[in-house]
Amino acid sequence: MHQTPPASALGRIPRVNVEIRGLNMAYGEAWHRQQVITDLDLDVPAGQMTVVIGPSGCGKSTLVNIIAGFEKPDSGIVRVDGQPVTGPGHDRMVVFQETALMPWLTVRQNVSFGPQLRGEMDRATLRAEADRLIDKVGLREFKDKYPLQLSGGMQRRAELARAMINQPKLMIMDEPFRGLDAMSRELMQEFFLKLFEENRRTNLFVTSEIDEAIFLADRLVVLSTRPATVRSVIEIDLPRPRTYAMLASEKAFDYKREALDILHQEAMKSFKMGSGQSDFLEAYAKRAQ
Ligand SMILES: Nc1ncnc2c1ncn2[C@@H]1O[C@H](COP(=O)(O)OP(=O)(O)OP(=O)(O)O)[C@@H](O)[C@H]1O
Ligand SMILES: [Mg+2]
Repeated sequence: MHQTPPASALGRIPRVNVEIRGLNMAYGEAWHRQQVITDLDLDVPAGQMTVVIGPSGCGKSTLVNIIAGFEKPDSGIVRVDGQPVTGPGHDRMVVFQETALMPWLTVRQNVSFGPQLRGEMDRATLRAEADRLIDKVGLREFKDKYPLQLSGGMQRRAELARAMINQPKLMIMDEPFRGLDAMSRELMQEFFLKLFEENRRTNLFVTSEIDEAIFLADRLVVLSTRPATVRSVIEIDLPRPRTYAMLASEKAFDYKREALDILHQEAMKSFKMGSGQSDFLEAYAKRAQ
């Protein structure tokens, strides 16, 4: 089923398991403390695409920041192959919803930046590896361009190359295609999926888009409304390589309904809590009966 990943110029893609246990996180001063994550347990199995979907503002990016080591949780632990995460590291690369490319550097300079800073590779190896990855993401003609000269989809592809050059054990994607127009988004999903199916790098992909989630996922983790906790884990048993047509299958439709039911319940909960509109919702529910 899972193919063996091809050897890259720098060796094989490492496979890791990520375990998250008992995570709790709140923001704000004691008098106005807001719980954002509560008792969250999650596994990101090696070589799989784990997709996390949750309502807007539920705490997805906070979870990403904790796994990346940018934030410390109030309690709980993240382990990467058994080793506790204590801070950021280039074994975990994050591609954010906002571009993190440096506007004053070209695509090639952006892609080379991390390893160059750490002095890990000699110039020639680094240049060859950057060019290989730039080719891989289809930006050969654009390697000397600056980020602002690229379309949104091209910027995301440059980001992927920038992350991949670090040979991360875990790739974390936080709504990376949010904000792209519908056509570019679909193209990016297909492109990204092809990369994943080639190398099977352990991946945690965060989205709020159900079709994107089912298209990509081996495991779909549905979060509650804030404070985020895991409501359900759905194993997405669709064949690979995936095609868009599979989203029209009965199986995909059942997965979608299962996830949407939970998301809908969660959205209603937060609407009731946040809007003070419970009277309206009850009246609406009665009318619908
Ligand atoms: N550094 C911070 N300080 C204070 N509050 C924060 C901080 N980061 C996030 N929050 C709050 O935590 C909650 C969850 O935010 P987060 O960005 O994790 O959610 P999200 O699910 O990623 O949202 P979105 O769907 O908009 O991407 C929000 O109410 C937000 O205001
Ligand atoms: Mg977010």
